[in-house]
Formats: sequence, C-alpha cells, structure tokens
Amino acid sequence: MTGNEIREAYLKYFQEKGHLRMPSSSLIPAADPTLLLTNAGMVQFKPYFTGEMDPPNRRLTSAQKCFRTTDIDSVGDSTHLTFFEMMVNFSIGDYFKEDAIKFAWEFVTDILGLPKESLWASVFVDDDEAHSYWVSTGVPAERIRRFGEGDNFWGPAGDEGPCGPCSEIHYDFGFDLGCGQSDCGPNCDYIVPGTNQQCNRFIELWNLVFMQFYQAPDGSRVPLPSPNIDTGMGLERAAAILQGKSNVYDTDIFTPLIRKVSEVCGRDYGLDDEIDYGIRVVAEHARSATFLISDGVVPSNDGRGYVLRRLLRRAIRYGRKLGLESQFLSRIADTVVDVMGGQYSDLKERQPFILRVISLEEDRFSEAFARGNLILKGMLDYRARHGSYVLDICSEKKNDLAIEGLFNEVIEVFEQGVTAYEQEGQALASKILLGFTTGIVGGRESGDENAEQEALDNILAWPTLLTGGEEFYLYDTYGFPPELTAEIAKEHGFKVDVDGFEREMEIQRLRARTASARFGGDFDAINTYHGLGLESTLFSGYETLNVSTVVVGLLVNGEQVGSVNVGSEVEVLLKETPFYAEMGGQVGDTGQIMSRNDSASDGISSTVIVRDTYSPIAGLIVHSSVVENGSISLGDLVEANVDLRRRQDTTRNHTATHILHAVLRNVLGGHVRQHGSLVTPDRLRFDFSHIAPLSPEELKKIEQTANEHIRANLAVMYHETTYRDAVEKGALAFFGDRYGDSVRVVQVGSEDGLSGSDNVSVEVCGGTHGHYTGDVGLCHIVSEIGIGAGLRRIEAVTGRAAEELMAGNSALLVDIAKRLQVPVDQLGSRLDGLLEQVEDVGRLAAGLERDLVKRQLSEISHLSIGEIMVTHGRLTVTTVDMLREAGDWIKNEIKTGIIILGTVVGDGASMIIMATDDIVRQGFHSGNVVKEAARVMGGGGGGRPELGQAGGRDIQKLENALESAVEQVRKWKEKL
Ligand code: SER
Repeated sequence: MTGNEIREAYLKYFQEKGHLRMPSSSLIPAADPTLLLTNAGMVQFKPYFTGEMDPPNRRLTSAQKCFRTTDIDSVGDSTHLTFFEMMVNFSIGDYFKEDAIKFAWEFVTDILGLPKESLWASVFVDDDEAHSYWVSTGVPAERIRRFGEGDNFWGPAGDEGPCGPCSEIHYDFGFDLGCGQSDCGPNCDYIVPGTNQQCNRFIELWNLVFMQFYQAPDGSRVPLPSPNIDTGMGLERAAAILQGKSNVYDTDIFTPLIRKVSEVCGRDYGLDDEIDYGIRVVAEHARSATFLISDGVVPSNDGRGYVLRRLLRRAIRYGRKLGLESQFLSRIADTVVDVMGGQYSDLKERQPFILRVISLEEDRFSEAFARGNLILKGMLDYRARHGSYVLDICSEKKNDLAIEGLFNEVIEVFEQGVTAYEQEGQALASKILLGFTTGIVGGRESGDENAEQEALDNILAWPTLLTGGEEFYLYDTYGFPPELTAEIAKEHGFKVDVDGFEREMEIQRLRARTASARFGGDFDAINTYHGLGLESTLFSGYETLNVSTVVVGLLVNGEQVGSVNVGSEVEVLLKETPFYAEMGGQVGDTGQIMSRNDSASDGISSTVIVRDTYSPIAGLIVHSSVVENGSISLGDLVEANVDLRRRQDTTRNHTATHILHAVLRNVLGGHVRQHGSLVTPDRLRFDFSHIAPLSPEELKKIEQTANEHIRANLAVMYHETTYRDAVEKGALAFFGDRYGDSVRVVQVGSEDGLSGSDNVSVEVCGGTHGHYTGDVGLCHIVSEIGIGAGLRRIEAVTGRAAEELMAGNSALLVDIAKRLQVPVDQLGSRLDGLLEQVEDVGRLAAGLERDLVKRQLSEISHLSIGEIMVTHGRLTVTTVDMLREAGDWIKNEIKTGIIILGTVVGDGASMIIMATDDIVRQGFHSGNVVKEAARVMGGGGGGRPELGQAGGRDIQKLENALESAVEQVRKWKEKL
C-alpha cells in the first residue's frame, strides 16, 4: 500500500465505524497561543475533551499534520522526522478502551493485513483492563508488556491539557534484526556493544491514549468530564512496515524527495553513510519547511519563525556538504509540492510564496554561512593547534613564568596563509584565552584565590570548549543558530558552552530592553508596580473619553509619593481611566488630568498633562505625566480627559488597519498574515507575510476596495468572548499576542451580519474603533516595502492626515508646474525632457573627467616594499566612484600590488585601498588598513580584504592618512 492508500484506508475504516472525518488543522495551533506548533492529532480538539465545547460528533477521525521540534538535530539518521502525518481517531465520551483496542487491532490485521505474530502490545503498568482486552482480541500474554509513565502515559500537548495512560501496538521486525537478548521486546533499550545503536527490532506503530485527566501547568491532574479515546498512528511508519522497509526514507512517501536531492547534488543514495545522512537532512527539512511556510510561518529569530530558520539553515549546511553551492532548497521544495500537493491543496495554491521564502532565506544565509564557517574554523583550528600546549602549562606548572609563556607562545600567534576570516576566528579564540589568562594574573595579584581558580578552570576547559561569547558572535553576526554551531563543533570533536551562550543572549536582551525601556533601564520599576498592591485599573475608554475618578498612585522615579508639585514628572495611577494604554500596536492616549477647586477663579486647581499611557503589568494602567500647574495628591478627586482629536485620529487608523488586513487577504490570498502593526495618530503601519512587492494594480485595487468599504459606512461592532470561541468562529488573531480569558472581538460588516460571512473583517482586538467605517474618512497607502524574507510593510494615512497629505501634494504640484512654466498635466513630458538633458550633460562630464584622471595617473607614485609594488597618491576627482574606477584601472595595469588612493570631494576626504588577489592570499586586509589610516584624518571606514574604503573630515590630514597606510603596508610586510 502506498502512503496515500494507507491514509485513505484509515479514514474510510473509521468513517465506517461511525467517525466523522475532520480536516487537518494548521501547524500553527490557532486556538492555543501557548503551544508553538501542532504536535499531535488532538490539539485542535482539546476543548471537546475538556467539555468546554460540544463536538460535532462523538466519534472523529482525521489525518493531521504534526511537527515536533525536539528531534531537529537528530534528523538525518534513518528514524527521526520533524514533520509527519498522524492518523487519528477519537472518542469524545463515547467508546472507551475495549472498542479502541478492537478497532486498532482489526485495522492493522484485517485492513493492513499485518501478520498477527509480528504484533506486540504494551499497556500502562497497572492497566489490567487494557491487558485483558488485548488478550481477548488474540494477543498472547507473552507479547504484552507493561511500562510506567515514561513510556505509557501520554500528554499533555503543550504546558497543560488532556492526558492519560496509553497502550501501544509495536511491530516486530524479527528476532534476527534485534539485539539478540532473550528478554528483548518493545521499547528495548539495549545498546548493541561497540556501537551507539539502540536495538531496533521493534517499532511503535500505534498509540492508544485513554484520555482521562486534565493536567495543569503545575503538573497536578484532575479527571476530565468523561473518559475519552485519542489514538494516533504515524503514517510514515505504517508505510515503512507495509512496504517492507526498515525506515521511512525508503517508502514511497520519501523516495521521490530522496531521488530529487540525489539528482540535484549528483550523488547516489545508498552508497555512503555520510552522504545518505546529508541527503536525508535536506529531503526532510525541505518537506517540513514547505509545510510550515504554507501554514504561514516565515523565518525569524524567535518562536515558530526560529524553528523554520533552524531547519532551513541546517538543510543549507548539509547541502553544502553534498557539494550544493548555489540555491537548491527551493528546488526540493518544488518536488515536495508536487508529491504532497494532491493531498494538501494549500501547498499548490501557495507554491510561489513557499518557494520565494525559501530562496530568500537561502540568499540571505549563503554568504554569511561561508564566512561564519571560516571564522568557526579559525576558532577551532586555533584551539587544535595550541590546546595541548595550553593544557601542559596550566595543569602542571601554574606559575607566573608559565603564564608569561602563554602570552609569548600562543596569544596573538596566528597561523598565516589562511583567509582573513579564519584569522578573525583565531583572533577571537585568542582574545578569549587572553581574558582567562589575565583573570589568573589578576586573581593572583589581588590575592583572590577564587577568581584565580575560576580563570584556571576556564583555561583548562578552553582547548575543547567553544565559549558562549564565540557562539554568540557567530549567531549575532552571521546568523548561525547555536545548534548549528554546536553540531559543526561536535563534528570536529569540540563541545560548546550552552549556558554561556544563554548568558550572552540574556545580556543582549537586557541591552535591548534597556534601550527601549521607558524606565531608563531600571527593571526594579516593574517590581515597584507589583509592590503598589493596587487593584486593576477600571478602563472605560471604549465608551467615554472623560471620567471623574480618584488618584490611587503617584510614582516619581519609581518611588511612591503622597503628592507632587508643579513641574514634576510623575506616573499617575487612577481608580478608573478613559486613557487607552499602549497595546496591540495602538499607541497610548495623551490628555489631561485635572482636579477641581471651586474656590479657584477658573474652578480648576491643578492640571497634569498626560504624555503617554501604558500598562507595565497586566491590569494596571499608568499615565506618564507632568504637573503643569498646582499640585496633585493621593486621594484627589480628578477629571481625566483624553485628547479627543488625537484619539480619533488613532482610532481611524486602527479601523483602517482591520479593513486593510481583510482586503489584503482578499486580494493577495489567505497566506497573508499579520506580523506586526503600529497604529498612531499620524499613520498606520502594517507588516504581513507576502512574497513579492505589490504591483501598482494590486496596490490600487487594495486602496480602492478599502475605500469602498469605508464609503459603504459599514457598522463596526464589538463583543466579548473567549479567545477560543473567537478563533473557532473565524476571527483573525495575531499569534504573537497573548490573550486573557476574555477577549474583545471587533467586527466590520452589516449590522445584522453577526453570522460571519457577511462581515468584511472579524478580529480579536483590544484597540479602539469608531462605530462606522465612514469615520475613517479616506485611506491612502503611502508606501509598500519589503522588510525581510517574505514580509512586506504597508504604511497608510487616513482622515485628517490623508486630507493634509492630498492637499500638500496638490499644492506641491502646482508650485512645481509654476516653476517649470507648464500646466500640471504637462509636467511629465517636461520632466522627461529635463532628465534627458541632465543625462547628456552627465555623460559629457564623466568623459571629460576620465580623461583628466588618466592624465593624473601617469604622474602617480609607485613604491616597492620588498617585492610588493605600492601605487599611492592623491587624485582630483568629483566622486568616490571615480576614485574606485581609477583604482580598477591601476589594478588592471599592475597585475600585482597594493593601491592607495585619496581625494577630497566637497568638504570631506576619501580614501580607498585595493589589493590584488595574490596579496590578499598572503593575509593582507585592505579594509583593516584603511580603517586604521582613516583615523589620522578623523574618520573611519572598513571593507573586505581586497577593497577598503574610508572617509574623514580633516581634509588637511589626507596626505598623512595616505602615508600612514603606506607605513602599515611596510609593517605588515616586515612581519610576514
Ligand atoms: N495524542 C497521541 C499521540 O500523539 C495519540 O494521538 O501519540
């Protein structure tokens, strides 16, 4: 039976047994923001098991796309998969153990026709009931094994959820294929001596979960409303067994992919273990990535996007090992769509998107990979060369002399004749060693024995351990996922410091947070809010913009105070507020808080200006303010007034964002998914997944359709419900956000259109909106750009801002037309004429300049440093491009040598350095030299080994900078 036939047979069998056939859900668990990816068939049905919702039928079956991240680094051997299809059948409070076992047994023996004597069963340790049902279906007791929670208890999927003891069917490949031990059976963990291979005589085929409990995040379990059944059979494994193969990669599900990879890289499969491993990695990851992207995941540095990035980058790396230098992954993905598109039509529909995302990531990673790989090589080579010397010195004679020896013999003693990147890696590795060495010396000098010992321990580990700092460098600069670094290091016999890497990440996160934190980097401030012990702020800003309320908290620099005077910056907390706190992309409100004093002449005793509103911890709304006049104290009765115009402008942009989102999905396709949004009073910004730049026609259509919805003056309605219910009913939710128990659903459509399909848009959203789309006024798209692999960004204006923009543009046109002395409608042809003239003049000027430069070149100085010819001097040119062009001419003439040129353009000095390939191979780095030389003229620069460029403000010092470069060449040459 082929994979497709098995899938169909399964679904048909269970349909005949009264099960309703359900479609696979997305790999992104829509209604479960706590779970990264769908990892089991039951994920989409969780609420049926918990009793939260009624199932459409008590018996269900489906073929579910699943993804398990735990196995990524094991993929390549013959057993592990990340993506797989799970054949599942469920009973929601209907049949239980007896029927579940009967069905499974009948299916494997009668329908699949597997020999009964090859089937074994396992049960939870004290589950005599399940045991007896297996016995009565005909499995002899000696082929039924009992296991504890490790093997025979399943779930929950994610942090919490339904779970229960389980019972499994295992397939026996035969005694001869196993470990040979007499007690061999399912889950045999015998390691075949001399190998690190586990006995693989048995393979688990089917898992029958007796879903009885709900497990809370703290691990405690309570019984579910009724006992349920959740069974799952891996399709790929079933295919392997039925097709008489020892592993899934030899089945019809994988062979077309394996064949394709083998064809693309020109290597046969099945001849060499290492090559086979690589081929399997590429085939498997291409398949998983295709499905992930199809379901809306795009590469990023966290969450699901990071899983995808890891897969793609790992596949690219193995591709390189197979000799695949250029783009290849998208070609494999193309085959995945061919092979699987029949069953999963989304793949076909989204094929261009999928292929584009993959090729973008390939492009993005290719160059970085080549460089990062060399740097890593440098780090490892450096250790390999000096490791034993370092160990020798440090483990035995740890005296000062020895440490000095380290300085002299190792640190900064780099291997020459390797690429500049390898040298960079060596330098990094040496820097780390230097750090430890100075740690020892420092500890010794200050008498701090612990510090000394710690540094010594670090040095002893150093020869075989890549530090977190080095891993982080590769990650941060070259996009190497740490797992990839670890895998490469391991291949060369090195370990990596996982905790060290995490620490570096944490430092970076802190840095990033400090940069954006409103509390000036004072994280204790967060604790301060908790410490206030205040009740949640009552938010009434959906209904009103003015509220009479009480001051319940005042914070100055994170300290609670009783009152504040004029001029003070203060964070005000109110019992109730109409101010919207920044959330879901919508900026916080501004406005005023005033306290009344009837004896004052204007009736107002103090005014506090609210500059921003935010919610640092859930439930608490904080007004960042400054006291404009009077003073304000705890307990004051105040009026809180939101700036109406600003709020209305923001609100228009928020409603327009929903409309645009819906229209984008409509015009471009269902793969469009929100990836971020910013809603301010001035404009809206919306990031979404899509491959290609939008064509002018698409943009026009999107803008027109959005404005039609606005003119139709549709109703904007709200209701509260559970997150799950909202998503079940088709509301779009932004997966990056976490939602509380109750969410607000915003619908745009006809007033009686609660039925769903009549709505233009339904979204889970806590933001503010008007009552009718007409409130938006006009929506005008200002720009549309790409912001990364498969991601686009639209910016638009609405209402007043749109009106201002239009008016400004019209006035500008009129003004330009006046200056060019033509009517507005003839501006285009006038401009064409002018541009043509400019081009002619430019060409003429460039020709003249080239002649002039050539004349200057005949007078330029040449100098020999050893056998290296250095051409250097100052030219008079009008652009740095021309300087580079002159450099290229010289390079062509001289064939070998170094070129150092400078010029003054405008009020800045520029410099370039070029080196021919043979010089670069000797380790010369133009970028580094020019960077150093530019300092002389108060500037900076850099570049590649073959070409560096720099600029400086101090034009008087250009000559000195040029001399400094020559001097550096001399020094470099001496060291060679
Ligand atoms: N939920 C169980 C599993 O994933 C059976 O479907 O193995």
